Amino acid sequence: MNVQVIPSQAFADQKPGTSGLRKKVTVFQQPHYLENFVQSIFDSIDVPKGATLILGGDGRYYNREAIQIILKMAAANGFGRVLVGQAGILSTPAASCIIRKYKTFGGIILSASHNPGGVDGDFGIKYNTPNGGPAPEKITEAIFEKSKSIQRYKMIAAPDVPLDVIGETDLAGMKVQVIDAVADYAELMESLFDFNAIKDLLASGFRMKFDAMHAVTGPYAQEIFIQRLGAPADSLMNCVPLPDFGGGHPDPNLTYAHELVEIIYGENAPDFGAASDGDGDRNMILGKGFFVTPSDSLALIAANARMVKGYAKGIAGVARSMPTSGAVDMVAKSLDIPCFETPTGWKFFGNLMDAGQVTLCGEESFGTGSSHVREKDGLWAVLFWLNILAIKRQSVEQIVKRHWLQFGRNVYSRHDYEDLPLDAANGVIEHLRSNFSALVGKSFGQYTIQECDDFSYTDPIDGSISTKQGLRVLFTDGSRIVFRLSGTGTSGATLRIYLEAFEPDTSKHDLDAQIALSEMIKIALQISELKQRTGRDTPTVIT
Ligand code: G1P
Ligand code: ZN
Repeated sequence: MNVQVIPSQAFADQKPGTSGLRKKVTVFQQPHYLENFVQSIFDSIDVPKGATLILGGDGRYYNREAIQIILKMAAANGFGRVLVGQAGILSTPAASCIIRKYKTFGGIILSASHNPGGVDGDFGIKYNTPNGGPAPEKITEAIFEKSKSIQRYKMIAAPDVPLDVIGETDLAGMKVQVIDAVADYAELMESLFDFNAIKDLLASGFRMKFDAMHAVTGPYAQEIFIQRLGAPADSLMNCVPLPDFGGGHPDPNLTYAHELVEIIYGENAPDFGAASDGDGDRNMILGKGFFVTPSDSLALIAANARMVKGYAKGIAGVARSMPTSGAVDMVAKSLDIPCFETPTGWKFFGNLMDAGQVTLCGEESFGTGSSHVREKDGLWAVLFWLNILAIKRQSVEQIVKRHWLQFGRNVYSRHDYEDLPLDAANGVIEHLRSNFSALVGKSFGQYTIQECDDFSYTDPIDGSISTKQGLRVLFTDGSRIVFRLSGTGTSGATLRIYLEAFEPDTSKHDLDAQIALSEMIKIALQISELKQRTGRDTPTVIT
């Protein structure tokens, strides 16, 4: 084998964020940049000789080039086989499914998730462990440490491997197997949900619209909704994956999925709308003229899980990230099952799922999933909703409002301030943190602050501790405001303000969240001194 040891110099900025290393494409295109990071992964995980790796990405710009580099490095670093999604494509949940199904030594996923793509867009890479989930912090920290002192990487000299046709190629003794990116995943979905019931629903005149946002789930949606469930072709939109997502921002929320939102709030709207993000792990759920918050969606899935084939035996427990609303906590209480509160990021759910302590997990950021894989899963959530709708035969809005009637409503919104100067954003957090003791006991109209803290988490399974995971301002009536800086951006800083108030009074359940939360929004601006410190008091994205 023609292994080359290529001298290199370390880059100081290869610290993985909330979900892997994300940078501008142009950063990844620098000589040795991707190679250094990949070698740092391989040097951190003790690759057993002949191990199998999964490799694929969301198809964004630079995906193919990166795959060829990683294949040649995998061959030089002792892997015996790499399974690659056809054309280099794998959705994040499909990659997790395949790692688990074929019991491989983990996988490398190339994605910057919901960030824009293209020549000037973002690219990303992360390593998932053999359980199929994102590497936990102890591994991502080890990778970062290696990346700071790396001096060489290993690669073989060989021509590129064909990726478009299913089959096997020999790459200097390592087997490269190009696999169907969709089949294993579709089969797993069919094992969890009652496809016949959903077929009947779709044949009954029920209309749906799924928006793949020109990202990775297009081919998955085609196979599942059209081929297997018999939905008419016009149930899908933007289902051809493009390297730049058609110039859009593949983030399924009310702001960026506006094309779908206009249809679902327009005349002759379909009964159900859904969208997923760049790499297929996020979801947005809509009914005719009605938006389901991701926190409510998680709670509803938990409350109705038993009626769905794959969860008929009941769920062991639930977990949500700290900024996610407490709606699911109410359901857990009524089901008498444990509910865990973790830091932001799917990697914190892995241990709980591996230990069998939780079945369902979710984040307010449009991420929902279960222990069927170790990633959040966009199409899984859409199918879960379709399965519930097929059984209940009520509208999405009816189902949500009946849920609120039973459990109360956690009125919720997240305000994002994108592209803030880094110093100003850090200044806001520092200001709040240093003001904690002055804030406790302070009243603002009907609201009084009971407690403030900096969220930290001790993993109940392995005891690892994660600190500084978001500032919480808790009010005496159970409302709260959370402040957190994003860990997935590639330029400037994004401040996220999460607002939540519990509303047991059913007569107020129809209120728009922005109106119901207007007092809290003012308090958030006042105590953070946002306007003075950043010049801004209007969020760029509201979800
Ligand atoms: C965001 C979301 C977080 C999610 C992550 C990856 O991270 O807020 O819930 O796990 O993307 O999809 P953030 O940018 O807030 O660090
Ligand atoms: Zn994603």
